[in-house]
Amino acid sequence: MKIIQITDTHLVPPGETLYGLDPAARLARVVEDVMVHHADADLVAITGDLCNDGDPAAYALLGDTLAPLSMPVRLMLGNHDDRMAFRSAFPDQPVDAGGFVQSVLDTDQGRLLFLDTHHPGTLGGRYCAARRRWLEDTLAAAGAAPVTLFLHHPPIDCGLAHFRNIGLHDAEAVLAPLRAHPGGVRHILFGHIHVSLSGTSTEGFSYSSGQSSAHRFAADLGEPAPWWVESHPAYRIVILDGAGLRAYVREIGQRELERAGDCTGP
Ligand SMILES: [Fe+2]
Repeated sequence: MKIIQITDTHLVPPGETLYGLDPAARLARVVEDVMVHHADADLVAITGDLCNDGDPAAYALLGDTLAPLSMPVRLMLGNHDDRMAFRSAFPDQPVDAGGFVQSVLDTDQGRLLFLDTHHPGTLGGRYCAARRRWLEDTLAAAGAAPVTLFLHHPPIDCGLAHFRNIGLHDAEAVLAPLRAHPGGVRHILFGHIHVSLSGTSTEGFSYSSGQSSAHRFAADLGEPAPWWVESHPAYRIVILDGAGLRAYVREIGQRELERAGDCTGP
């Protein structure tokens, strides 16, 4: 199974820019690249901060920008989003019985879970009792199947000073049910931090982040104030098969230095 992870697209209304960048133009390049190189993908998952201010005009632009994608798309919310504006713009995206934007997809590689960690007015994420009940029920229904998680906020300490207090505040509400799942957890994929990160928790959960398609945060571990660096639009190609899960970052627009045919090896 091939999944494309795009994250932190941060769209703004048409004609506006963000940190000197045009997030929609960058996302359009991602979409074009996916359709050229990965039109065979089974799914595109966008892990939140879809729009920068939850503006309806930005959600409409998001819909237009994603329209060329021929494969199914699952959208998640981040702290920058607005749940009601999102639901108005994307009525076909699945929600749970409580109206949270979370859903599952059953595959031959186990159950994929798409979580809603958005909490209005908070930079960090929340996972309330109602959402936890949904997660517990969803895991129970998965039986012995492994699960793979997609969500915006990292449920672990990512070690970046700026994000120290704005991760998933109720991480245990996600981790405890996962810990009890007999099928195991293949991987946890998130966004939020705008930079690539991969790791394993002490209890054995493997996790990684996508790289924002918009502005990239510098991987300066001790810097409490965010600063942004020049970057190319990026996305990840995630392969989920009998051998496990592998994720590759693809950056668009890098200049090729040499063709492999002239290269003697790595
Ligand atoms: Fe973001």
